[in-house]
Amino acid sequence: MKEIDFTGKVAVVTGAASGMGLMTSQELARLGAKVVMCDVNAEALRAAAATIGGAAVPCAGDVRDFAHAEAAAKAAEALGGCDILVTCAGGNEARCCKSNVPFYEQPVEVIDWGLDVNLKGAVYFARACMPQMVAKKGGRNLLSRFGYGFRRRRRRHDVRNGEVGALQFREGPCDRWRSA
Ligand SMILES: NC(=O)c1ccc[n+]([C@@H]2O[C@H](COP(=O)([O-])OP(=O)(O)OC[C@H]3O[C@@H](n4cnc5c(N)ncnc54)[C@H](O)[C@@H]3O)[C@@H](O)[C@H]2O)c1
Repeated sequence: MKEIDFTGKVAVVTGAASGMGLMTSQELARLGAKVVMCDVNAEALRAAAATIGGAAVPCAGDVRDFAHAEAAAKAAEALGGCDILVTCAGGNEARCCKSNVPFYEQPVEVIDWGLDVNLKGAVYFARACMPQMVAKKGGRNLLSRFGYGFRRRRRRHDVRNGEVGALQFREGPCDRWRSA
């Protein structure tokens, strides 16, 4: 399978300061995209963006704040408009909030954190970025709780379960993308 060329494409990635968001940003930039990198950890985000260089536009903020989603969309618009949205911000609420009890004993604040960051954050970014993606008629919205791959033939969401080591965007069926 041949790698997809993202030259001229603009991506918005949340949770871009570490883990899957950072790997996704680096891979998209390597394949030619410009990347608006979003994360609540401004210091880590600066360091993460520096690993990419000129293709990265850091945009610090909290995905629970719709104004932040709008600021990211504006940054993407300045680059030509969002083509690709990848929402990686968040994680398991018990782990992230260091609340080591079973789900049925979790404080409601921890449950709220999980819903707000993982769900509301992704929905806010979709709301903010999708007008540009629809206008460009080729957008891809990757709700990246899981693994993912690209398929040229599919027009909308490409979301699949899987393990991710290092991301590789390739043409072809999703079950053929590989971790390395
Ligand atoms: N790492 C994996 O193998 C894996 C596998 C399956 C699913 N996931 C899911 O993918 C997502 C990302 O996982 P990861 O391993 O990259 O986690 P990570 O902790 O490395 O990265 C999450 C990033 O989100 C940022 N973040 C947290 N709260 C935020 C907020 N309110 N606003 C903006 N940014 C915020 C953090 O600062 C961090 O940089 C999680 O939902 C995780 O459950 C990860």
